[in-house]
Amino acid sequence: MGYSDPSSSRDLLGNRTLFFIFICAFAVVTLLQQILYGRNYLKRGLQFSWQSGEELANWTGTFNFTDDGALKSGSDTGTRYFEFYEGPFEYNSTKCLELRQDIIEVKVLSMVKQTELFDRWKSLQMCKWEMNVTEANLFKSTLSRCCNAPAFLFTTQKNTPLGSKLKYEVDTSGIFHINQEIFRMFPKDMPYYRSQFKKCAVVGNGGILKDSRCGREIDSADFVFRCNLPPISEKYTVDVGVKTDVVTVNPSIITERFHKLEKWRKPFYEVLQVYENASVLLPAFYNTRNTDVSIRVKYVLDDFESQQAVYYFHPQYLINVSRYWLSQGVRAKRISTGLILVTAALELCEEVHLFGFWAFPMNPSGIFITHHYYDNVKPRPGFHAMPSEIFNFLHMHSKGILRVHTGTCSCC
Ligand SMILES: *[C@@H]1O[C@H](CO)[C@@H](O)[C@H](O)[C@H]1NC(C)=O
Ligand SMILES: *[C@@H]1O[C@H](CO)[C@@H](O)[C@H](O)[C@H]1NC(C)=O
Ligand SMILES: *[C@@H]1O[C@H](CO)[C@@H](O)[C@H](O)[C@H]1NC(C)=O
Ligand SMILES: *[C@@H]1O[C@H](CO)[C@@H](O)[C@H](O)[C@H]1NC(C)=O
Ligand SMILES: *[C@@H]1O[C@H](CO)[C@@H](O)[C@H](O)[C@H]1NC(C)=O
Ligand SMILES: *[C@@H]1O[C@H](CO)[C@@H](O)[C@H](O)[C@H]1NC(C)=O
Repeated sequence: MGYSDPSSSRDLLGNRTLFFIFICAFAVVTLLQQILYGRNYLKRGLQFSWQSGEELANWTGTFNFTDDGALKSGSDTGTRYFEFYEGPFEYNSTKCLELRQDIIEVKVLSMVKQTELFDRWKSLQMCKWEMNVTEANLFKSTLSRCCNAPAFLFTTQKNTPLGSKLKYEVDTSGIFHINQEIFRMFPKDMPYYRSQFKKCAVVGNGGILKDSRCGREIDSADFVFRCNLPPISEKYTVDVGVKTDVVTVNPSIITERFHKLEKWRKPFYEVLQVYENASVLLPAFYNTRNTDVSIRVKYVLDDFESQQAVYYFHPQYLINVSRYWLSQGVRAKRISTGLILVTAALELCEEVHLFGFWAFPMNPSGIFITHHYYDNVKPRPGFHAMPSEIFNFLHMHSKGILRVHTGTCSCC
């Protein structure tokens, strides 16, 4: 049987024909998709140019978004493609109102696919950003009721009296008795007051910062927060800047990279010196494991007669901030340090700008990015809820409460 059976060979021919037809159909559908998708893209570009009464005939290739609501052409990144098309991108234009509404409409992240949110954010890049003072003040007053950073962000002699018992954030059964030694390490009162700084930058460590050239814009802020001892050496300066007023340290880094400061302390001191006079902020009372290493940081800086201040997050502040964000849909084992700093900044600063906060594998121009701006090491899965945090930031950006930078900077 087999080969010589004519009926079976006819079957084979039939199958082949079917297969061929299938391939053709697939090709046609793909081609159609390409054409439609491509046209849509073109249409979007043309729509904008028609609104401003200009014909844009040269829309080709990919494009890069800059941070101030303009597009960069692919071939000439030095000049703005839309230099003379200001109209449609004005903050108050109908189009921009719509684009912001497109994001505000999404109440919870699960309502849309992430790619959908990504697309909406991409479109919004064409619009200028402005703070909506009404919205911002509303948000700030909510935060002052739940969390009150100007009084409770750090443990101070005022909010944590000598002899009091401090409850840990996660080890709820754990209690730290405030003795003379630790009490003397606390500042008398919070070093910052409400809306003290005009413009703040909170710098996350996302790969979105790589090649952003945002360094100068970050450095131009009045106050700069950075997370988890990020590298700011010369090769990164163009993208991330150097100015640092507060830098957080995750005690796990001290444990892993600096032997809990039980051995040589100089390497750690030298790392901190890079941030010059920045204050060092630690979650000493997050869990009982963090306390000793966090206190040792203070001893190290004192031993080297450093001017840098050491502060500890007040555990009750962290609890209240987590509770607030949980009510906004951020469900995670732990909210990220970035989110805590952004929350604090909203109370301490008039205007808050976010850099390096992003949770998608590509930037808004569709180029794949690394996880951090300095490496591509992925975090432990399920620990933080980054997409949901970023989603909240995009929402707040659209409402004018803060500004999220995900493009390249052209400032200064
Ligand atoms: C399109 O771009 C080319 C080269 O950049 C230029 O020579 C041409 O005049 C442009 N066409 C229009 C309609 O602007
Ligand atoms: C967009 O920007 C990235 C990084 O800045 C660059 O590598 C890429 O070539 C740019 N693409 C275009 C089309 O300009
Ligand atoms: C947009 O409109 C609001 C009020 O409608 C106004 O306060 C604001 O200045 C406008 N912004 C611009 C850039 O025109
Ligand atoms: C600012 O926010 C308020 C409250 O949501 C809103 O009524 C107002 O239209 C917003 N202003 C602008 C210029 O978007
Ligand atoms: C945290 O929340 C609790 C309960 O809502 C409240 O009593 C307390 O004052 C808040 N703490 C701070 C530091 O605002
Ligand atoms: C460094 O910071 C500390 C505390 O923030 C401050 O007391 C000190 O004056 C600063 N020193 C310099 C040289 O700026």
